[in-house]
Amino acid sequence: MARCLWRSDAGIEVFQEIQMNRMLAQTLAAVVLTAGALGSALAGDASKGKEKADQVCAACHGKDGNTPIDPSYPKLAGQHEDYLVRVLRDYQSDARKNAIMAAQAKALSRADIDNLAAYYAGLPGKLSHNR
Ligand code: HEC
Repeated sequence: MARCLWRSDAGIEVFQEIQMNRMLAQTLAAVVLTAGALGSALAGDASKGKEKADQVCAACHGKDGNTPIDPSYPKLAGQHEDYLVRVLRDYQSDARKNAIMAAQAKALSRADIDNLAAYYAGLPGKLSHNR
């Protein structure tokens, strides 16, 4: 009888250990998935962004994002990526009003915006480090 009890105790211990490992594995998997999701939250494709920028945006903002055709047109190179995403969506929704940029932004998809933001944020420029 005593032997029997000992056996079942050991069984419970093993069972608990398996449960713990399972929980640990699930927690780890959740952490990895969350990290992946966060990492891709601002994961535009800069090379696709460059294609679009060269076709469309360069005409006004300059080929390098630093040499706009008019001094009143903003430089984009080196601007914060999250700022660029935000402002392009604001032009789309007219939360920021500008006739020229509204027309530009409304022609863009969500992915276009992410890609363009990744591209311009990665160009050498003084905007995001000069404050
Ligand atoms: C016809 C000229 C023109 C084209 C083409 C154009 N822009 Fe603009 N862009 C402007 C002007 C003018 C402004 C300033 C508008 C304002 O004052 O809100 C501006 C502002 C911006 C801003 C805000 C910058 C800041 O510092 O707040 C972003 C971002 C931007 N443009 C991105 C783009 C992208 C991306 C494209 C290509 C899809 C593009 N623009 C194409 C003229 C243009």
